[in-house]
Amino acid sequence: MKRLTVPAIRARKADGQGGGEPLVMLTAYTVRTAQLLDPHCDMLLVGDSLGQVIYGLPSTIPVTLEMMAAHGAAVVRGSYHSVVVIDMPFGSYEASPEKAFESAAWLLKQTGAAAVKLEGGTAMAPTVAFLSERGIPVMGHVGLTPQAVNALGGYGARGRSAAEAAKIVADAKAVAEAGAFAVVIEGVVEPIAIQITRSIACPTIGIGASAQCDGQVLVTEDMLGMFERTARFVKKFDDLSGRISAAVDQYATDVRSRAFPGVEQIYAPKD
Ligand code: KIV
Ligand code: NA
Repeated sequence: MKRLTVPAIRARKADGQGGGEPLVMLTAYTVRTAQLLDPHCDMLLVGDSLGQVIYGLPSTIPVTLEMMAAHGAAVVRGSYHSVVVIDMPFGSYEASPEKAFESAAWLLKQTGAAAVKLEGGTAMAPTVAFLSERGIPVMGHVGLTPQAVNALGGYGARGRSAAEAAKIVADAKAVAEAGAFAVVIEGVVEPIAIQITRSIACPTIGIGASAQCDGQVLVTEDMLGMFERTARFVKKFDDLSGRISAAVDQYATDVRSRAFPGVEQIYAPKD
């Protein structure tokens, strides 16, 4: 199977405005996860959510370009079908389009990923245009933008007031018109997600948004049930934390009772 391309993803909007087959996206940070998800997905996102999910950081703010590059390279090595998109971490792109280009180019050189994602709306539109016009495909991210947690004051849903809703719609339009090939809409009230999906020319990828978006994304560890507490928008498709606990409990029991290793796991001397 040949790897999908950014233009092929972009073209999935063509027939329309939520009417085509939705794009399937999940996060991946490691090679084995990438291998397992790749055949089922259109895009793999090396999200800066790795800060919390695999490093135990309090937010995505401390995540560095080096962390994104290390995990991005692993995900590219573990996939051959999906488009790999890497998050630009906080502080690596906001200051200027030039700074963003330098950071994004370095990430793509280090990893072989096809595209970057960055958070923000109208303020980031010139940067989205700068990168897109210079050969770096950009995925936008509007609504609940976790890198802005200190400014937003938390991770609650966005767009509940008319003014905030209008701002999110304007943000999505700005990055789409600047050339973003897709836009993540996170944690917004559903009518806003639908309005954006109908009014921009590229696919929308929802997370806590609407089934009418042109695609969906979730954090893989969330949807596999690795965490007890998750946002409302997470559907747990499995209970991996329960299954891992049961397996490790059995291992501990077998070690303590000397049931493990058994005859199948030990090497007999040659006679
Ligand atoms: O970092 C991340 O995982 C993300 C998605 C949840 C959209 O940005
Ligand atoms: Na992110």
